[in-house]
Amino acid sequence: MSDEAIEAILPGPVALARRMGGVGSWMIRDPLRLGDDSDVISMAGGFPAPESLPAAEIGAAGARVLGSARATAALQYSAAQGLPELREWIATRATAQRGQPVHPDQVIVTAGALQALDVVSKALIDPGDVVAIDDPAFPASLHCLRMYQSEVLAVDVDDEGMDVDALAERLAGGHRPKLVYTVATFHNPTGATLTAARRMRLADLAERYGFAVVEDDPYSALRFRGEPVPPVSAYSDRVLTLGSFSKTLGPGLRIGWVIAPPALAEAITRAKRWSDLHTSTFVQFTLLELLGQPGWWEAHLARLPGLYRERCAALRSAVATHLAGVLEVNDPAGGLFVWGRVVAAGIGADDLLDAAVRRGVSFVSGPQFAVHRPDPATLRLSFAGHPPDRLDLAVRRLAAAAASLVA
Ligand SMILES: Cc1ncc(COP(=O)(O)O)c(C=O)c1O
Repeated sequence: MSDEAIEAILPGPVALARRMGGVGSWMIRDPLRLGDDSDVISMAGGFPAPESLPAAEIGAAGARVLGSARATAALQYSAAQGLPELREWIATRATAQRGQPVHPDQVIVTAGALQALDVVSKALIDPGDVVAIDDPAFPASLHCLRMYQSEVLAVDVDDEGMDVDALAERLAGGHRPKLVYTVATFHNPTGATLTAARRMRLADLAERYGFAVVEDDPYSALRFRGEPVPPVSAYSDRVLTLGSFSKTLGPGLRIGWVIAPPALAEAITRAKRWSDLHTSTFVQFTLLELLGQPGWWEAHLARLPGLYRERCAALRSAVATHLAGVLEVNDPAGGLFVWGRVVAAGIGADDLLDAAVRRGVSFVSGPQFAVHRPDPATLRLSFAGHPPDRLDLAVRRLAAAAASLVA
């Protein structure tokens, strides 16, 4: 049979679901992949510092689990909601953070904070529901919310986090979001932290207009300056908290959680169960083994601020030295990123990225985080992945890239 004849009897291509329409693959130029190339110093991804990941301790804990009477249980199916002891551990820490009791039944263990957002969205979002989100935003969260065919309402972020006054204006103007998604502490990408006053205002608006706040919080344990701000959940019961061990123990573990209001926990567990049955039993057992050692978690967390404070300061000082008049960066109190603005006339962050990659350094340009309003002068630099001398080299390469554009 000829090719034409075969084509004539084949069915047409399988159409994608409508929900795929507004959803990109990752960031436009996939800069995360650049981290694999050893010649390129990547300041692109949200990878925690390699030195901060307790590989040997996780390995030893996993071996103890498999060498014990728990081995079979650790390799079996387990409860969709997560192991009760791990949910209790998470609830105890959340209770201390909020200053309000959190019951382990409110906790659902997930494969990271992003799956937490996915199962929350699956349980709560119908096509056409309005979801308000920080602009700029973490692209994976934006894509996840769009995957459920929500109408996205962008709310600007400034130095103090989401502009809650702007949100209030939208609400007064008739917009009715079902969810308001925000990274209130060390926002990705800007590093901004929502002030306590704005958190209270957001909580008030949630009560008044009946929306739920989704507070995505993978970074609050990475504070290296100043005092913690109470979470939005300290001020309202209408908050779903997304948490994660990705930035403290390693994203490859894929362990995070949702803390939901009691009335929603069962539905979110159902959404989780019919996605993947449950999160890895073995990894949950391994973490419990580690976290069950008295003082281990506190000692581990205590090592992180020094590491990130030093790296953030090194990056900022290299920018001040080598890129004065070209790039200005902010001064976050924690997290993994600084947010920058190209101030040299005529240079956009995308052009700078092209030139930078040719000189062996990468970052993510600001427009890749835009929800509605790309700002071509902005960019995000991660200081997490490299010691001070490498960060200095990265910034010198960036300066050479900027100089080539000016020339
Ligand atoms: C704001 C935000 N939410 C969620 C995630 C994903 O976290 P996880 O690895 O726990 O899924 C990230 C990772 O960079 C993030 O920045």
